[in-house]
Amino acid sequence: MALLTQTPYKAKTFDLSGLTGISDNTLEVHFGLYAGYVKNTNLLNEQLVTMQQAGQGLSSNPSYSEITRRLGFEYNGMVLHEWYFGNLTKASGGGISSSSALGRALGESFGDIDTWRKDFTAIGGMRGVGWAVTFLDTATGRLSNHWITLHEDGNIAGFKPIVVMDVWEHAFLLDYKPADRPKYIEAFLANFDADAAEARLTGAADRPVG
Ligand SMILES: [Fe+2]
Repeated sequence: MALLTQTPYKAKTFDLSGLTGISDNTLEVHFGLYAGYVKNTNLLNEQLVTMQQAGQGLSSNPSYSEITRRLGFEYNGMVLHEWYFGNLTKASGGGISSSSALGRALGESFGDIDTWRKDFTAIGGMRGVGWAVTFLDTATGRLSNHWITLHEDGNIAGFKPIVVMDVWEHAFLLDYKPADRPKYIEAFLANFDADAAEARLTGAADRPVG
């Protein structure tokens, strides 16, 4: 059920021009797709509120049911892109210090940073479109890697995204051939903002919103 006082979301802008291996052209197209998720999330919320107010917010109403199901796709599409763009940087991406809070947490959960990186890369290379995400279980402090199909299938309820990589083909097809997804994953990791991920882990930062 959408909130009756739903405030529309705004698409956030991200200053990422000049990344290594992820072109400005790709980013421009990708920002446009992200804006579409924001628009559709707002639209679906509006439609649900309108239906509720008209007394049509009923499980027996197929339109209400279908829009409610679609909300999970659009909402996660919006949110995951904000986490994704928010952990890219044109400054000094790539490195994770083993003595940082992020490095220590990865070491405790995976054995060492390189093992995490190999596992994250393997998940990102899986067939199909979706996301590779390193989540934090805020109840235990444990980090784990996950595959998300589309935007909504595979997210763990209540876990906090720490490292988020888009592996839909639109994320790289202007720069690489479909079979060259590994090159894109390398580029993502080269532009990965470890400081942003650490801030998420420590609670100093949350999802960047517009
Ligand atoms: Fe995307």
